[in-house]
Amino acid sequence: MVIFGASGDLTARKLMPAVYKLDTEGLLTDKFQIVGFSRSDLDTARFREEMRQALREFGDKKLLDEERINKFCERLHYVRGDYGDPEAFRRLQQFVGGQCSGDSRQVFYMAVPPSVSEAILGCMKQVGLGQEGSDRMWPKVVMEKPFGLDLEGARRLNQLLAQVFVEQQIYRVDHYLAKSTVQNLMVFRFGNAIWEPLWNSHYIDNVQITAAEQIGVEGRGGYYEESGIVRDMVQNHVLQVLSLVAMEPPVPNDFESIHDKKIEIFKSLEPLLPEDFVFGQYEGYRQERKVDKNSATPTFAALRWYINNWRWRGVPFYIRSGKALARKVTEVAITFKRVPLCVLSEEACRNVSPNILFMRIQPEEGIRLCFVVKTPERTEEVATANLDFKYSQFEETIPDAYERIILDSLCDNCVCGRQNRLWRDDAIEAAWKAVMPLLNTPKEELAGQFPNYKPGTWGPKEAEELLRRDGRKWIVSE
Ligand code: BG6
Repeated sequence: MVIFGASGDLTARKLMPAVYKLDTEGLLTDKFQIVGFSRSDLDTARFREEMRQALREFGDKKLLDEERINKFCERLHYVRGDYGDPEAFRRLQQFVGGQCSGDSRQVFYMAVPPSVSEAILGCMKQVGLGQEGSDRMWPKVVMEKPFGLDLEGARRLNQLLAQVFVEQQIYRVDHYLAKSTVQNLMVFRFGNAIWEPLWNSHYIDNVQITAAEQIGVEGRGGYYEESGIVRDMVQNHVLQVLSLVAMEPPVPNDFESIHDKKIEIFKSLEPLLPEDFVFGQYEGYRQERKVDKNSATPTFAALRWYINNWRWRGVPFYIRSGKALARKVTEVAITFKRVPLCVLSEEACRNVSPNILFMRIQPEEGIRLCFVVKTPERTEEVATANLDFKYSQFEETIPDAYERIILDSLCDNCVCGRQNRLWRDDAIEAAWKAVMPLLNTPKEELAGQFPNYKPGTWGPKEAEELLRRDGRKWIVSE
């Protein structure tokens, strides 16, 4: 596995701990090797040392054992080079060639910002890297999000990829799709008969998707400046969750159909108008490393989106995502319509609240359904009670999404059912198209408004206002 961007944040925080875990579980062959490639002035010894540190800091503490770590680090190698330098790619090719035998599979993992993926693919094409491999062990390329910086960029990247690889070799990953709780959205909807009759505008008042983080950009200022909240979260993770909640049932045993159904949703999203969204930037963002002192990059977005199709017409989908917010929580809250007429006592009717279904993606993974019950007292009082399912009831812990992604890239597609954990080229383009109005807000306008929220809050007050105008409030389960 060649990792481009080997000295970056993603490699240290996610990829190395995930590969290490797979190694401790005995899921890697003895021959498995990682070749890190990046611009940083490192050699193999220093790369190993840095990855050792990364494992100590970000790895699963229960698995950290110095002897095991040392053994794992023997699998690591490093080649330094510039992403646009064909000579460096020739050196890489030679090194990789020396490590591989006829039955080796090569995986090229792009853990780099979109601005450099084009240069990398250009050099790979020029020197023929990734073109070797037998029919059975064809090389693969793993593309991280954001895939391009906008619709045009995504199209260019798709075209370039098509010149170097065939579609089967291209893995456009989104780690949200590899989360068990996100995969559960389809299971929950299509594995239970009771939801479908209610899953539409007749019974649902509104849908809220919150993807909030407590941390700021954590030293990733350089990357974040070019991406911001829309490219970092909304265009990919959040839209995937939205499409899984809203899509029509797919054709059985046909993964392509899942992509088709998602695309239908992206295409049905009503074009966003300026009154449908609010941006924010947290106080202190401009003082982060590698961030412009007058930065216009949003670290928060709240939006109201309508899906213009038969099932969802008139139901608002409210989305909010941001950094440095009150707490880490990703969940979908489906609020059902109120009863048509309250026939209980006057006092009870005042306390009858609508049913809410929370699909808790993280960190308290599970499902919660809120409903009204009578309290035990002799009075007419009612209260809201919860039916709770928690993932913690299973003995196994939820694996990290990156373990799944790496396993998918190493083994054969049909075995792992990877297709529904990936983006398809046309879906990515449809998702970009839907978010383009968000990216077109003039920078000067944004820079003048920012910063506009304090870390540890739920974002700017305008986000509350967005829902208040519709007579609603943001909700998260406790
Ligand atoms: C990544 C973003 O894709 O997702 C990060 O680049 C973000 O900025 C992360 O922190 C959130 O992932 P998770 O799994 O912690 O919700």
